[in-house]
Amino acid sequence: MLVAEDAAGYLGRLDDAPVRPLSAEPGAALAGPLPADGVDALAALRALLSAADEGATRSAGPRFFHFVMGGGTPAGLAADWLTSALDQIAFNWVSSPLAMRVEQVTLGWLKELFGLPLEWSGVLTSGATMANFTGLAVARRWWGQQHGVDVEQTGLIGLPPVPVFASGHLHASALKALGQLGIGRAQARTFAADVTGRLDLGALAAALADERTGPAIVIATAGEVNAGAFDPIADMADLAEAHGAWLHVDAAFGLFAAISPSTRQLVRGIERARSVSVDGHKWLNVPYDCGVAFIDDPVLHHETFSASAAYLGSGDLDRPAFGNLAPEMSRRARALPVWATLRAYGRNGYRAMVERHLALAHRLADQVDAEPDLERLADVVLNVVCFRYHPLDALDSELDALNHRLGDAVLEEGQVYFGSTVYAGHVAFRPAVVNWRTQSRDIDLIVPTVLRIGRQLRAGTRPTRDPA
Ligand SMILES: Cc1ncc(COP(=O)(O)O)c(C=O)c1O
Repeated sequence: MLVAEDAAGYLGRLDDAPVRPLSAEPGAALAGPLPADGVDALAALRALLSAADEGATRSAGPRFFHFVMGGGTPAGLAADWLTSALDQIAFNWVSSPLAMRVEQVTLGWLKELFGLPLEWSGVLTSGATMANFTGLAVARRWWGQQHGVDVEQTGLIGLPPVPVFASGHLHASALKALGQLGIGRAQARTFAADVTGRLDLGALAAALADERTGPAIVIATAGEVNAGAFDPIADMADLAEAHGAWLHVDAAFGLFAAISPSTRQLVRGIERARSVSVDGHKWLNVPYDCGVAFIDDPVLHHETFSASAAYLGSGDLDRPAFGNLAPEMSRRARALPVWATLRAYGRNGYRAMVERHLALAHRLADQVDAEPDLERLADVVLNVVCFRYHPLDALDSELDALNHRLGDAVLEEGQVYFGSTVYAGHVAFRPAVVNWRTQSRDIDLIVPTVLRIGRQLRAGTRPTRDPA
């Protein structure tokens, strides 16, 4: 009751609260040596609640536009609490038939939602990084097989480097996964046609056609973080098919383009990929942490991750043991919040949310375009608006430093939340609209905030927080 009541108050204030926590040093009262004797649970929880009240970033709220982060829908959040209460081990049908059934149903619904082939295999992960890891691990197994080697058994010893090709949109998490897989981050070769990272399709074709390359892994990005750009997935699928390559698509948030007829063409051809990753805690708006990996080959998927021991039992292709399809064995029953949010809001609810966010992104782009002191740096293809502060009388040489300071000051003030990035060689902002709570009144704060703080910085007056 204590936590439920406190959480209700926290959530009730979320729409209007500053995103940045009040405390610069959150949780200082929680530190100290390990207590020899415990206090009672209520006292421990009270200390945590008080630290959370002063120190939690209101990232579940409507004005957190940094990175690409969703909040938790009411159904998703409540089911996530239930998941902890039930404390299921989502390993196999012995450990939790409930978790297995819900994951099976949920993955089927997600394939329907995104228009992916129903016969594909899938598994819930902790996020898109681990979904990329999962897809690329299966790709690595496939690649080893092309060389007559069972990589899961004998590793990569004696094999040539694994060729990995991508556009300049390749996300850091895919590189991280390549490192974890022993393929190596440096093996990724990116072919960018320009400073935005756009794919040089001809260069990719040439690399795949080079007979020294052999079987290769191609990674497409659907929804690049700075401007929301998409690689040409259908063209990449053509090349992958022609040259016998594995196509993995990192669609952490971009897969949601498939839900609206207005943006579906952005992921055209994705059903021809061999593996696809997407996040749950971004645009699906389930609480952290949740991602999904889809694989076109259920057998290869199972061979990559299965682990056997006499006491464990197993699943089969019709009733997969999801602990044998995931990097981990013991797993949280993440499917419960995903099932609940899909059941509560349905395909139409998600389509309405995505389309509202697309409209909000265009609303922001229009506001940026209407201001002479702001410069939009990229087309708005989805839900990210990339722009910078560019006062007419400012020197080009000042702009990067000015926008960098401005990004820091926007975070420091914390009313709307997004920092700076570097896009096409310029320091810029890239607010992303993903939270189910976000409304036009939240979007409408972005441009005035940037202009006000930008002018204060140029005038040498330190920005102060506006009264809420
Ligand atoms: C394109 C892309 N891939 C992967 C990731 C990593 O996702 P996660 O942080 O959920 O692991 C992100 C996160 O922003 C992303 O935008």
